[in-house]
Amino acid sequence: MTDTILAFDPVAIHAGNRGLGIDHDAVQARLDALVNSMTLAQLINEIRGLQPQPLAGLYFAGGDESLQIPPFKMVDGPRGARTGKATAFPVGIARGATFDVELERRVGLAIGLEVAARGGNVLLAPTINLLRHPGWGRAQETYSEDPFHMGAMAVAFISGAQNHVMTSPKHFAVNNVENTRFEMSANVPARVLHEVYLPHFKRCVQEAGAASVMSAYNKLNGTYCGEHAELLTHILRDDWGFKGFVESDWFLGTRSTAAALNAGMDLEMPAGFRFSDEKIHAAITAGTLTEATLRQAAGRALYAKLAWDLNSLPMPDANVVECPAHIALAREVAEKSIVLLKNAARCLPLSDTVDKRYAIVGDLATIANLGDRGSSFVTSSDTTSILSGITQLLQRAELTYFNSSDNLQSLGDFDACIVVAGLTYLDEGEFIPTQQQEAEGSDLARGGDREVLTLPESQRQLIESAACHARKTIVVLEGGSAIEVTDWLDLVDGLVMAWYPGREGGHAVSNVLFGVTNPSGRLPVTIPTHLDQHVPWDITSLNVDHDYLHGYGLMQANQEIPQFPFGFGLSYTRFDVQGLTVDSTDSGFCLRVNVTNTGATLGATIVQLYVACPNSSILRAPQQLKGFGRVELAAAGEVTLLINLSNADLCFYDELARDWRLEVCDYCFSIGFSSADLTLSSTWSFDGAGWQAR
Ligand code: BGC
Repeated sequence: MTDTILAFDPVAIHAGNRGLGIDHDAVQARLDALVNSMTLAQLINEIRGLQPQPLAGLYFAGGDESLQIPPFKMVDGPRGARTGKATAFPVGIARGATFDVELERRVGLAIGLEVAARGGNVLLAPTINLLRHPGWGRAQETYSEDPFHMGAMAVAFISGAQNHVMTSPKHFAVNNVENTRFEMSANVPARVLHEVYLPHFKRCVQEAGAASVMSAYNKLNGTYCGEHAELLTHILRDDWGFKGFVESDWFLGTRSTAAALNAGMDLEMPAGFRFSDEKIHAAITAGTLTEATLRQAAGRALYAKLAWDLNSLPMPDANVVECPAHIALAREVAEKSIVLLKNAARCLPLSDTVDKRYAIVGDLATIANLGDRGSSFVTSSDTTSILSGITQLLQRAELTYFNSSDNLQSLGDFDACIVVAGLTYLDEGEFIPTQQQEAEGSDLARGGDREVLTLPESQRQLIESAACHARKTIVVLEGGSAIEVTDWLDLVDGLVMAWYPGREGGHAVSNVLFGVTNPSGRLPVTIPTHLDQHVPWDITSLNVDHDYLHGYGLMQANQEIPQFPFGFGLSYTRFDVQGLTVDSTDSGFCLRVNVTNTGATLGATIVQLYVACPNSSILRAPQQLKGFGRVELAAAGEVTLLINLSNADLCFYDELARDWRLEVCDYCFSIGFSSADLTLSSTWSFDGAGWQAR
């Protein structure tokens, strides 16, 4: 009998999450008493931040000593605790590439603990806007182009972090163009909204009990998200049962006083511009805002404070920040996030023997390339560059560094050349107009969206000239999303996607290149051969129509072959899946598959479940990810992976009924190692009452 592992174990993932299991009735009773005892001025104080700029990284909101109400103290994420130096983890997209929910829960635990140790009680993370297009400037902060994958990673992070502090998944909703984010309207039909852009938010609320949600700057179907009643009240609260508070994104996230509050906004951040005393009193006098609505908004903010018993949240010791365990975790995550994309003639792993001479090329090899310098700008007290990581690792082989202006003609003298190329915060990231102007010669955010997915010309030239001289060329790419590689891919022997790998990235990359670690990351975003394979992309557009398909679903529907498909990644060993069994249960299906490491090296793979509805009467993506599990096995090792699939995950959103429905049709469950490599399948039919295997 082989061992069985569960792909997603809800009990383990949600352990210790303080946001779950709240005794609602008891909190409500205390809340009613508190709110009824408060004056209007005291209530108004609870619905806004206290000052525009953070104090030591903390944004304060509400709080009243005389009533023993503590303030919220919010800290940015999502790659770490943004208060002074903290553990800079690999960015969200890198963590998405691990496809490892248990690991992401541990990242949440670590970041939550560091936030708490710095005095924070709300973590402004995770960023879970779907990568409709990989050119989005903040792609690096999020996990995925796929809603199922996004939801699984996000709930794991939240449940980990909420062992210590509240979280605030953001930005609600459909915030996926950066340069025009303050004005653009994401135009999204109801079915697309519910099936593609919201399911992961819903999971954060319902499964992980997220304490708050941050609204988005942009408009949804013409209305600012910060004053969108359908979004903030009907969907979030009435449909999903959200009991937490909604805070606006900063400065321009709250556009109005009465309209925002009436729509369901609770807290203006970072300070009360629209929720100032004067404006609120004026709205009440004008009759556009009632005291009851104000009481409700303040009540929701206070609900969280009571439910979480903020006054008695433990304050961890300051030395947990960048403690050895968190540093080790940052390295583990970086290693597991690296995606091996090409390994011609098994050029990797490189060997560390006395007879080997390696060259390493590129300025990015020497810097701490941690990613964006906008709100997710987290730095550590020490960051290992790739050059330093390899130098520290090698015991026997010789390593020579060339910067981008060096003559590369001698590269032919080396056994292999490692080129470190890619993007930095200058190429992509959060777009902050004021910082943008001041950015020249400073460390501030300069990113924004990428108009194209190709490398900057200097980086492409570096790869090409290295490849033209070197005997073997291995490219290590850094960046926060898909980068087009098609033009130069044939020139190189090896390609590794390292993302922005965090403070331990240099060690992680070295370990993968030299075989200390077997790569197991998988692409959470499709790398196209060309930009046009993704949805149309215009970073100046103020109106962006969102169709049902994007990413791998769109490419499969269009029969476009991407350069590297969603879910793809190579390993130094090989895996096989066999013996798929599917059992129908009361609420869905239980799929079991045997996974074997058929190679000679310890390694890990990501087994993926996709669902197709071949005879559906409505538009569907040809394949949709509905389950995945990371499996680590010694050479010749075997395990049974169990994936639970719920009927709810098979439903479509019926716009007319405004509800979810299970269509009467066939459902084909396929298992494999990427969206384009599905080897086992089983088809079941739903006849309106029950299921039959076909
Ligand atoms: C970003 C948010 C961030 C906030 C506070 C905003 O500009 O969009 O993600 O949490 O600033 O820094």
